[in-house]
Amino acid sequence: MGLLSFITVVILSMLCSPCFTSAQQLYVGQAITDCNNPDITPAVFGYEYNGVNTSCQTYLTFRSNPPYNNVSAISDLLASDPSQLSEINEVSETETFDTNRLVIVPVNCSRSGEYYQRNTSYVIKEAAGYLFISNNTLQGLTTCQAIANQNPGLTSSNLSIGARLNAPLRCACPTKNQSDLGIKYLMSYLVAEGDEVSLISQRFGADTKLTSEANSLPNTNINPFTTFLVPLENPPSVSQTIEPPPPPLSPPPPPTPTSTSNKSSSKTWLYALIGALGGSALILVLGIVFYCRVFRRSKKKTDSITVSESFGAFEKPQEKKTDQESKDFLDSISADIALSLKTYRFQELQNATNNFSTSNWIKGSVYCGTINGDSAAIKKMDGDVSKEINLLHKINHSNLIRLSGVCFSDGYWYLVYEYAANGPLSDWIYYDINDGKFLDWGQRIQILLDVATGLNYLHSYTTPSHVHKDIKSSNILLDTDFRAKIANFGMARSAEGQEDHFSLTKHIVGTIGYMAPEYLEHGLVSTKLDVYAFGVLMLETLTGKEVAVLYEENKHLSDVLNAVLKDEDGQESWRNFMDPSLQERYPSELAKFLVKLIDNCLEKNPAVRPAMDEIVQLLSRTMNNSMAWELSNV
Ligand SMILES: *[C@@H]1O[C@H](CO)[C@@H](O)[C@H](O)[C@H]1NC(C)=O
Ligand SMILES: *[C@@H]1O[C@H](CO)[C@@H](O)[C@H](O)[C@H]1NC(C)=O
Ligand SMILES: *[C@@H]1O[C@H](CO)[C@@H](O)[C@H](O)[C@H]1NC(C)=O
Ligand SMILES: *[C@@H]1O[C@H](CO)[C@@H](O)[C@H](O)[C@H]1NC(C)=O
Ligand SMILES: *[C@@H]1O[C@H](CO)[C@@H](O)[C@H](O)[C@H]1NC(C)=O
Ligand SMILES: *[C@@H]1O[C@H](CO)[C@@H](O)[C@H](O)[C@H]1NC(C)=O
Ligand SMILES: *[C@@H]1O[C@H](CO)[C@@H](O)[C@H](O)[C@H]1NC(C)=O
Repeated sequence: MGLLSFITVVILSMLCSPCFTSAQQLYVGQAITDCNNPDITPAVFGYEYNGVNTSCQTYLTFRSNPPYNNVSAISDLLASDPSQLSEINEVSETETFDTNRLVIVPVNCSRSGEYYQRNTSYVIKEAAGYLFISNNTLQGLTTCQAIANQNPGLTSSNLSIGARLNAPLRCACPTKNQSDLGIKYLMSYLVAEGDEVSLISQRFGADTKLTSEANSLPNTNINPFTTFLVPLENPPSVSQTIEPPPPPLSPPPPPTPTSTSNKSSSKTWLYALIGALGGSALILVLGIVFYCRVFRRSKKKTDSITVSESFGAFEKPQEKKTDQESKDFLDSISADIALSLKTYRFQELQNATNNFSTSNWIKGSVYCGTINGDSAAIKKMDGDVSKEINLLHKINHSNLIRLSGVCFSDGYWYLVYEYAANGPLSDWIYYDINDGKFLDWGQRIQILLDVATGLNYLHSYTTPSHVHKDIKSSNILLDTDFRAKIANFGMARSAEGQEDHFSLTKHIVGTIGYMAPEYLEHGLVSTKLDVYAFGVLMLETLTGKEVAVLYEENKHLSDVLNAVLKDEDGQESWRNFMDPSLQERYPSELAKFLVKLIDNCLEKNPAVRPAMDEIVQLLSRTMNNSMAWELSNV
């Protein structure tokens, strides 16, 4: 098949970095996650010694992240000099950085055999493998393969807490050609979501062509948590570390492929996509983007990946509001929602969260705290939060997370939500024999009914009607009684007047695997997007498997359903289908009924999918029947 082989060629050429060898360095790409495959490209071990200078002064970047959020903690972690680090970042040596602030880290880089590197030693503090240390702790400044290479006698699986690891940080010295052009430093910049070669170059005053060459980039695709060399004539300055404003609204460049992490598993997904969408040029583009972005599965519970960044500019966080603008905004909303939404003083939130201590940290930028005796979840945000606030303050429904207040301080928004003690549904439904977390049949049906009820409210009882657009297991929160609340309305939008078609000037956001085909293909937004995603959520809830895993095992989700639907006596196929932790304690008639409902929700044609109010009715009937079944089965 011509299309397929073309895609294969494109992908192979992306994987096969040595094809572009020159004396300059190779960009490492997603090979960094393929820890068991050191042969994937030599670039995983580091930047190669180029025969010019055996050592040089250079700079790394690092994003402040507790507990590595102050001068001494960061210079310790990265073997830098605290006084030089504080000087270049224009802060005092006792300074604590805001989370996610880009910190410049001066280091001496030197030759070690075939590679340049800066050695640092890392003392293991938690049960974690090499990938966690290289990617999550060191943010991609080293790789699991390089750590494995330089710590003979240890393996990723038998690391003990307190053990000391040698972690070679990725750095490089300029080539002869670069020196001749006046380049003095090759900064190891850590790529973030949404970065593009041209934007990074602009930001640091580097020439885009030189930057691409410095990384031997065959194309312009770069991935988060990898290092990217920026050729500099002068040391970087602190003003360049401030997030740039969003670029002007000219058409963004077409989405282009990055590279891949898990070749064999993603391939199924690629075929699935081609099968599902039929042939057009758009598919080629989307297919490659997905092939590349899908399912970097390091641990069992991967958080699903959003693809907003592949479509460029529009999803970038907005320029930070000034205090005055934000106060104006607060005032304007306060007038109209003073009764439903409290504005907190920052100090109140500090008190509530023990000054945002790690013991109050939940995940990402979310902390828990106690305000006036009530538990609350507090989320720190720096984008445009007005949409989420404007939507949430209007709605009051027990199945939609309640926003109780806001605070603006020092360039950041803090949104205060009701607290859901049992955390996200994603912590509960994926089968893991070791985690001891289990939901019985009745709880699962109740949760699905709750989600459907919340969505129905959003679709039918808000004016204008709204689409959530990012329904997935990690956006469903469970309270102490395991009742579900839909959270994260950052992508929600009005469902009206959105019949316009997808073009590359529109942006696609959402989570792979949950996204309906008409959205992928044409960017069509309607409430039926949520219906499709809800179908996927039901499927995950019954099977105990993440959608990523289902796509690894099957070309189409409908294959999963057909396997059980066509099987009349059903024994073996049902055993394979249902979550093993249910141990066959479920009413099989109802399960079969739900499988048919899922099948309807996943219909390719959105018009054929049931509406949410229908689903609510069907699920409440299922709930009643389930209760009857439970009573007769005690
Ligand atoms: C260095 O520059 C020269 C002339 O500009 C060019 O011919 C040569 O290929 C370059 N070498 C490398 C390794 O890029
Ligand atoms: C820096 O952070 C570390 C780890 O959180 C902490 O132990 C240390 O006291 C902090 N130092 C300063 C000067 O704040
Ligand atoms: C680099 O090495 C020089 C000389 O050994 C030393 O003075 C300087 O402090 C080092 N810089 C860093 C950032 O460690
Ligand atoms: C790398 O770390 C980031 C942030 O901690 C995380 O979001 C991402 O999933 C990690 N990637 C892999 C492949 O583990
Ligand atoms: C860095 O560590 C490696 C061993 O992992 C060692 O061979 C090399 O000499 C060290 N380099 C420096 C500059 O200390
Ligand atoms: C870790 O495992 C490797 C190979 O399985 C073994 O050679 C090594 O001694 C072990 N190290 C420790 C500290 O247990
Ligand atoms: C290499 O070292 C020499 C001195 O040893 C220095 O003059 C030159 O600037 C260095 N080149 C680079 C690229 O750092």
